[in-house]
Amino acid sequence: MSALPKIPSTAAGVLPQIAAFAEEQAIALRHDFHRHPELAFEEHRTSARIAGLLSDWGFEVATGIGGTGVVATLRRGDGGRRLGIRADFDALPISEDSGLAYASQTRGLMHACGHDGHTTILLAAAHYLARHGRFDGTVHLVFQPAEEIGQGATRMLDDGLFERFPVDAIFGLHNWPGVPAGRFGFVDGPAMASVDWARIRVTGKGGHGAEPHTGVDPVLTAAHIVTALQSLVSRNVDPREMAVVTVGSIHGGQAANVIPDSVELKLTARAFLPEVRQALRRRIPALAEAVAAGFGAGVEIDFPLGFPSVLNHAAETAFAREVALAQFGSDGVVAGLAPRTASEDFAFLLQRRPGSFVFVGNGDSAPLHSPRYVFDDAVIAPAASYWARLAETFLAEPDAARQAAGAPA
Ligand code: NI
Repeated sequence: MSALPKIPSTAAGVLPQIAAFAEEQAIALRHDFHRHPELAFEEHRTSARIAGLLSDWGFEVATGIGGTGVVATLRRGDGGRRLGIRADFDALPISEDSGLAYASQTRGLMHACGHDGHTTILLAAAHYLARHGRFDGTVHLVFQPAEEIGQGATRMLDDGLFERFPVDAIFGLHNWPGVPAGRFGFVDGPAMASVDWARIRVTGKGGHGAEPHTGVDPVLTAAHIVTALQSLVSRNVDPREMAVVTVGSIHGGQAANVIPDSVELKLTARAFLPEVRQALRRRIPALAEAVAAGFGAGVEIDFPLGFPSVLNHAAETAFAREVALAQFGSDGVVAGLAPRTASEDFAFLLQRRPGSFVFVGNGDSAPLHSPRYVFDDAVIAPAASYWARLAETFLAEPDAARQAAGAPA
């Protein structure tokens, strides 16, 4: 892509207009989203609220992109550069146990991943950009449904996201418990893992537990498959690379004295590198089939493609880090943040356009997807200020760009 703009060295940190908006409206808005969580592709209330606000603030708003997705566009000047920033807004099928006054009002549903926070952060940045933003070019704000089931990004792409709203780069963020609140983390290259889900049905021949020689025992076979699968990471993957195979579910049989006909295993395989992912996708079925054959049993394997790893692009990641350093100083950026072994469907967007997925600390909260997880409202103002500054820098006005480059204005 074209060279990214130079970074002005004027550190401003949290923008006062955004700090005021957070206190007056954004935190209350986040609590409202939190009270009303909605599952993947059912986020009708959330989506309508987002579209309504953006339209009130003067954005050109497109709805129904990839189901409940929203894209809001703002143009300034005559610059040809185009920036995309994405936030997700779906919730999880989890019963909240946070004790918060503004806890979920829908039993069994919860914003347990902070997507209510991500959306509020981008809305606060949008409000600033519409009123005070100084830039030259086009901003497309992408509000994505259904991240938790890994389908929202794909559905928006299938609906022509980047054809209808072309961007030169796309950025997104996720809050992270365990990283100091409001500090930013940047990872070049693989930042989050790929994930594939497999279901393996081990088929044998059931019978009386006292006469095992007359049947084929799928319980014993399944146990050997579980053990053998753990050898993939230690024997088939380069020890310098990351891979995880987790068998999280094993079901079969009813009684202590009956050999069942079949046993079902469910597992996930994760990796940072596409070649490691492909090796696991090849070896898991091959090993399960071979082990089962050794016991005279069979396997039926369902192993659809999940989603790829988040592969951050080098130039855009360096740019994103430089913006944070210029804005918040080195104290605002976590040095050497390690990649995360969880997964994100932002990966699909990065397969189509250059960009970077950024992390922002959420302090000492319970982990993501815990019923006790709490998004820290103190993150909203710095993270929204960061998006606003990233947009103004990426789409720098000609004068600002010349000054930053050291040329006479
Ligand atoms: Ni999430």
